Amino acid sequence: MKFLLFLLVLALVLVLSVAALGGLGERKKNMDRFDHSAIRVIRNALSGGMGAVQYTGPPQPLLVIGAGLPRTGTASLKTALEMLGLRCHHMMEVVETKGKIDFWHQHLVKKSIGFDKVLKDLANDGFNATVDMPAAFKYKEQMKQYPEAKVILSIRSEEGDKAATKWANSMVTTILNVPAMCRDVPFRWVAKVIQAAEYFEGSYGGVDLPMYEPEKLPAFYDAWNEDVLRTVNRENLLVFQAKDGWKPLCDFLGPVSEIVQANCHSFIASNEPYPRTNDTANILRAISNARMIIWVSKSMPAFLAVAIALTWMMNRDGSARKKSD
Ligand SMILES: *[C@@H]1O[C@H](CO)[C@@H](O)[C@H](O)[C@H]1NC(C)=O
Ligand SMILES: *[C@@H]1O[C@H](CO)[C@@H](O)[C@H](O)[C@H]1NC(C)=O
Repeated sequence: MKFLLFLLVLALVLVLSVAALGGLGERKKNMDRFDHSAIRVIRNALSGGMGAVQYTGPPQPLLVIGAGLPRTGTASLKTALEMLGLRCHHMMEVVETKGKIDFWHQHLVKKSIGFDKVLKDLANDGFNATVDMPAAFKYKEQMKQYPEAKVILSIRSEEGDKAATKWANSMVTTILNVPAMCRDVPFRWVAKVIQAAEYFEGSYGGVDLPMYEPEKLPAFYDAWNEDVLRTVNRENLLVFQAKDGWKPLCDFLGPVSEIVQANCHSFIASNEPYPRTNDTANILRAISNARMIIWVSKSMPAFLAVAIALTWMMNRDGSARKKSD
């Protein structure tokens, strides 16, 4: 009897775990390189990233520097820049490529490698454009090395004050969750995941982004954008909202290279829609899957305790009955 009960509770724990993992597997069918599905993000974090296709061409100079904060349409901007013929670095490159979290961790946290090495690494990997964190947080350092590069400040598409609060909200519900989740059970037991948490915290810390004071985030957003406007020469700067589409982007980037110019002409002539790579749903899904895993791991001891208590009680009833017989 007690054995049966024990099996029952064990089965319950198993079913819950499988439910959590099932949620992870669900998105497998539409995996692409920048899929944020939890199974992939978690597997990558556990293994320190996947091997990327090795770039074998000549080192590329940076032609375009994205100075906009994360959650300002940077995934769409990356897609757009790649459509135009540039190879663009985005946060997902770090998270998804083997060894890159470790690499940026050495720069941001251990401070054992300088930014010159980071730039060299980007060039050797064939990147000629950067957007999103962690690179965007270092746009000034990139400009120092590549003063001719065009700078794009991506901003949110909302009007006026709404942009800053929407940005803050978007940060809080998506990527600002990541470090705390990495530091929770069971992820905290994996050294690579703790390294990922430190990498994120190091990135935010490097620009004094108030990650644990959400009420200060809107002011951070405004101050960041004002600083970019003050820092970059107007003729070298495009302030860009995703809703602006190809036209201003092409007017600004056309002169950069013939490849870009030619792609621009064909996109505008054919009314190619500006990409909308909305990764919010994927990120939210990865977060809720990770939360499920955290919940199951934390509930496991409670389930086991209940199983043991019930087994003990039934055992006692059984022996009490035997005695009275
Ligand atoms: C950007 O770099 C890639 C290699 O990563 C290269 O194929 C492409 O032509 C470069 N784009 C421009 C505009 O130079
Ligand atoms: C992106 O997706 C999220 C969640 O699915 C949605 O709330 C948001 O409005 C979308 N944003 C854009 C710009 O389409």
